Amino acid sequence: MNGPAPAAPGAFISSLESCFALPLNEITSIVRSFHEEMDRGLSGQSSSLKMLPSFVDVPRGTEKGSFLALDLGGTNVRVLAVELDGRRNATVPAVSTFAVPPGDMEGTGAALFDFIARCIDSFLTEHTIDRNNLYDLAFTFSFPVAQKDIASGALIAWTKGFTARGVQGEDVAGLLRTALKRNSISCINVTALTNDTVGTLAAGSYLDPACDMGVILGTGTNGCYREKSSNIKILNGYVSDEYMIVNLEWGNFATLKRTGYDMHLDEASVNEGSMFLEKMVSGMYLGEMTRLVLIDMIQRELIFLNDPDATEHFSTKNSLKTEHMSLIQGDQTTELSKTDRYLKSMGVTSSTLPDRLLLSHLCGIVSSRAAAISAAVVSAVLTWLDPALEERHTVAVDGALFEGYAGFEAAMTETFTLLHGNNADNIKLMKCKDGSGRGAAIVAAVTASKQ
Ligand code: GLC
Repeated sequence: MNGPAPAAPGAFISSLESCFALPLNEITSIVRSFHEEMDRGLSGQSSSLKMLPSFVDVPRGTEKGSFLALDLGGTNVRVLAVELDGRRNATVPAVSTFAVPPGDMEGTGAALFDFIARCIDSFLTEHTIDRNNLYDLAFTFSFPVAQKDIASGALIAWTKGFTARGVQGEDVAGLLRTALKRNSISCINVTALTNDTVGTLAAGSYLDPACDMGVILGTGTNGCYREKSSNIKILNGYVSDEYMIVNLEWGNFATLKRTGYDMHLDEASVNEGSMFLEKMVSGMYLGEMTRLVLIDMIQRELIFLNDPDATEHFSTKNSLKTEHMSLIQGDQTTELSKTDRYLKSMGVTSSTLPDRLLLSHLCGIVSSRAAAISAAVVSAVLTWLDPALEERHTVAVDGALFEGYAGFEAAMTETFTLLHGNNADNIKLMKCKDGSGRGAAIVAAVTASKQ
């Protein structure tokens, strides 16, 4: 593998640190090229940022009513009932979560959408919802979609390990409507289609009018923000609203310094050659990145020397999960006994304390880069809106990486301070749990209020 070459762990680790480090000048250059790519994407030139118009603006906070939301994120499908009281409160009286069977992610589109329809069916039954009424449902489909209006849009390309056949290029709201019909569910009216970032921004701004950005740091990663419609050249003046939310699809941002491990991870993925930022940042990939470095360290005899089978314990792709990294990095016990327990569960029964410290350090190197890149792209979007960061900006963030990874938010804040000094205080990251689902219902309400 094309990683660093020295022999002692200390030398290897410092070399690894410099491969993964993001000094200020590199972060600044990420911000600069991100702005260039935003500009190109908005004007319809070729760009690694798709800058997808969402056909909706943020809510006013006065929207009212009951809506259903369906959220296909990555690993789960969630179905929610959402109540909006018209005074900035969005409550969720009913929710059901279903794990997407791996076979349905990789099978036919019809099987995937039938599974989703059955999730809605189970939700209606579980919460004894009267099927004689008609319910407006907002569909959060967390993949890149080319929309021409709020209620439909064609999948551009699958991300996050999905490969279901016959969906790319098709209207995913239409596929859902057809699957509902096929499964005899006639009480659902699909009125809006949104990306999860757009839902998160809608949920954040329903609560806090200073919220002008939505971010997902979970299985995948992405961001959206409010743009002046007149700046979205690809709309050709088609929309009369002054502002519209734009989905950046920043997971595909490509101007980043990549290591040999990044290239190896990309080559082994189902979407080789795309989503470079997502593969360096998001929860679906950080564990795998760490596993690749760890295997390299084992083979160089820098770690787990007491265990001749150590390579085999980590030989399965994706066997080291991002949750494990968080557990290891968050282990505060003096002997790193939680880490030891985890290693034993993987078959490494004789790790030493220096082994465990080294592993913890490795997790830190991989996750710090992820947090620094995340902060860099959040900063890029905010300085696009407000170059000197003179005003307060609330950034609504949803996703298990941000919510659950030990020290991730703190590491992002360090990068904000490095970039903006005291003005970094103007960036407020707001955890927006279930934002994508709640927000989709808010989008449905904004849509309904215009009809
Ligand atoms: C992937 C998808 C994007 C989504 C993100 C977070 O990057 O392409 O649409 O917002 O994951 O779920």
